[in-house]
Amino acid sequence: MNDDKTSNQMWGGRFASGPAAIMQAINASISFDKKLYAEDIRGSIAHSEMLAERGIITKADQKKIAKGLKTILGEIESGKFEFSEKLEDIHMNVEARLAELIGPAAGRLHTARSRNDQVAVDFRLWVKNEFLRVAQALKDLIAAFLERAEEHAATVMPGFTHMQAAQPVTFGHHCMAYVEMFSRDLSRVRDAIERMDESPLGAAALAGTGFPVDRHMTAKALGFRDPTRNSLDSVSDRDFALEFLSVAAISGTHLSRLAEEIVIWSTPQFGFVKLSDSFSTGSSIMPQKKNPDAAELVRAKIGRINGNLVALLTVMKGLPLTYSKDMQEDKEAVFDAAETLDLMLAAMTGMVRDMTVDAAAMKRAAGAGYSTATDLADWLVRTLGLPFREAHHVTGRAVALAEQKKVGLEKLALADLKAIHPGITEDVFSVLSVQNSVKSRTSYGGTAPSEVKKQIRAWKKRLAKA
Ligand code: ARG
Repeated sequence: MNDDKTSNQMWGGRFASGPAAIMQAINASISFDKKLYAEDIRGSIAHSEMLAERGIITKADQKKIAKGLKTILGEIESGKFEFSEKLEDIHMNVEARLAELIGPAAGRLHTARSRNDQVAVDFRLWVKNEFLRVAQALKDLIAAFLERAEEHAATVMPGFTHMQAAQPVTFGHHCMAYVEMFSRDLSRVRDAIERMDESPLGAAALAGTGFPVDRHMTAKALGFRDPTRNSLDSVSDRDFALEFLSVAAISGTHLSRLAEEIVIWSTPQFGFVKLSDSFSTGSSIMPQKKNPDAAELVRAKIGRINGNLVALLTVMKGLPLTYSKDMQEDKEAVFDAAETLDLMLAAMTGMVRDMTVDAAAMKRAAGAGYSTATDLADWLVRTLGLPFREAHHVTGRAVALAEQKKVGLEKLALADLKAIHPGITEDVFSVLSVQNSVKSRTSYGGTAPSEVKKQIRAWKKRLAKA
């Protein structure tokens, strides 16, 4: 740690001595904000071009500045750059090196700018780029699910409520439920980008600047739709970071639910799916075991994202306008959440593509637990005109009888069923099989294979445009 008593070369004009070592340690952000180096340099080049265009600095100085910044980019990317904690953050590390490289012209770069709008623009550029990566990763995951859904549009499995087998559904339908969830996540990403696609550069410290800057020019050069409209808001807003974390928390929640299902499905007791060796591990003591570690970790990692969301909400609450150093705490939360979400999405897409589905095990389970009882009740309503409540009661008696005889509903004798209700005919057996049960659920959004295939077709078209 540096206890050197010379004052800071960037802002030390009114300071007689340097910071205490502990002050430097709590103040410096370079250990994590160096991640923003490319955005910082890009922002500075755009700013310098605008300054030259508006006659605020000379074209000759701008050329030196841009050349120096590109040299620094190369130094950082090749690992040659020496980051210094004494220079606090990425902005001052880059500027100090620029001064070493090009001399006094470096001091003109910060005209009409403050670190407050500089960090805001750097971080927005980074978050926007990360949003775009997440969008692509979500599209890959959705595409993987659409393939599995197509393959298994007619594969029956039990549908659950309360984790109890409820009614038969198809595995394709179940996959499409996740397509719906991840597509909503994708649309949240798009919405969030739409809102944050504005450049805060030129807001300067907080009040704007008296220099004749062109904020539309820098916004355009950096790929933003518009400049922000209020200088105070520009330097104090971190909604875009909070939105990233919220979107990540919701999508991570979906991933975690799916991970839990994969853990359950891959138990020997269920045996619905098998993960290959590439997505499982063995036990060091129990040779028979194959553990779904990747799924378990996806299930768990949402904890970090939720923690990061709460951390930044807590940092931001109660902060008066405009910038306060508290806001430097925004970055680690977002970086960690982004890294975590990227990993969760990639691992899950891998597992969805990799897992082998045991259609026979799913079908066996689908038939267990009297899962077609609702179909029997519906048949009584449709065919005999019974009120649903009465049909429910009659069906309950049939289930009790089947339970007593230890057989499935479809294995009850017609005579036994007639004893429960004389109107029941042979035709009832057509609805008691799981296959026919799912086939009959043709309501819009229902589990009938014909309906599932329609939804797959519609999503494929939508995804091509998303
Ligand atoms: N490292 C700082 C941050 O991340 C940059 C902005 C510093 N601004 C200031 N007025 N001290 O927030």
